[in-house]
Amino acid sequence: MITLPGLIDTHVHLREPGATQKEDFETGTKAAIAGGYTCILDMPNNPEPTITPGALEKKMTLTQSVILNSFQDPQHKMPKQVRHDNMSSRIYCDVGFHFGATSKSTQYFKQVKGKVFGLKVYMNHTTGTLLIEDKIILKDIFVRWPQDKVLMVHAEGPTLKKAIDLAGQFGNKLHVCHVSQASELSLIRQAKQDNLSITCEVTCHHLFLTENDQKTLGSFGIMRPPLATKTDQEALWTGITDGTVDTIASDHAPHTKEEKANTPPPNGVPGLETTLPLLLTAISEGRLTVDKLIQLTNTNPRKIFNIPQQFDSVVEVDPTRNYTLDARRLFTKCAWTPFEGKKVTGKIKRVVLNGKVVCKDGEVLNPPQGKVIYPTK
Ligand code: DOR
Ligand code: ZN
Ligand code: ZN
Repeated sequence: MITLPGLIDTHVHLREPGATQKEDFETGTKAAIAGGYTCILDMPNNPEPTITPGALEKKMTLTQSVILNSFQDPQHKMPKQVRHDNMSSRIYCDVGFHFGATSKSTQYFKQVKGKVFGLKVYMNHTTGTLLIEDKIILKDIFVRWPQDKVLMVHAEGPTLKKAIDLAGQFGNKLHVCHVSQASELSLIRQAKQDNLSITCEVTCHHLFLTENDQKTLGSFGIMRPPLATKTDQEALWTGITDGTVDTIASDHAPHTKEEKANTPPPNGVPGLETTLPLLLTAISEGRLTVDKLIQLTNTNPRKIFNIPQQFDSVVEVDPTRNYTLDARRLFTKCAWTPFEGKKVTGKIKRVVLNGKVVCKDGEVLNPPQGKVIYPTK
């Protein structure tokens, strides 16, 4: 048995509010806990995006549900009084939020600074409406977001160069999401050598799948950035070994099977419940070490995003146990995985959150123990 600190996923799309046919706070955080994550950060690209303090507040409120206490009036059959003073958590793990960048959301940057972990800037087209390509707007965003807080970019291929140039010019703390190409990694390596404040993340779909798998997976292998070549994939593993890659995130981006069958299909794949088993498999094959896994999924994310320490929060895994990934055992509402049928080595036995066992042998225990978290600075 190996005991790991509870994993942190800084890149999750929980979909509530606005797209709860795909996922909601309950199902998404249940999937997180079942996957060994005790802390996740939610992305802003909902149909009603997290681009105002009100939208942020609404998400936070939705993580709780009101317990309606009814008191029976002895004279009458109907409940006489309903009290709304009891709140209970709907989230199974701790959840923090990211803010979205638009030309207008800049006015709220100071106001939300202490409540969110990072700003997400979508510089290429993907799910949602947050795309920004206009140079003047981009500059305004980079200038106005606090320099000591993470500015995350979705910037693929040549777009990444633009993001790095802007961050270099305005001194931002840049975090590059889902690096998928060797050329992107070279740019990041160079920027690190130039002493820019830059970190980056890779996902398991880019680490374990290539464009060849996309042919077999069809629309279920479509995401942004797309699956890349074998050479790109190898470059990501080299980036892990040589320290260029700072974090591994799931980029859990659930869509229903019906939605994925549309033409064109929406971009994205779920990942919360398959990431740790895949990484444990890489350990069993000698491609990753336990220390490196902890660094990429706990120590570095906590440091980069100023995530508060979680006490007595661990994942116990059996590193030798073989099993097959099977969508029927998943908690994510979308109920599919691009890794269906894959044989993995390493099974999650128990997850402990704040001293309480919250998952045992594949069963997520009630009531939910998660809370909304805020950055330490
Ligand atoms: O594949 C993706 N799906 N890439 C993104 O950048 C967004 C995500 C989503 O929200 O569906
Ligand atoms: Zn993205
Ligand atoms: Zn994403």
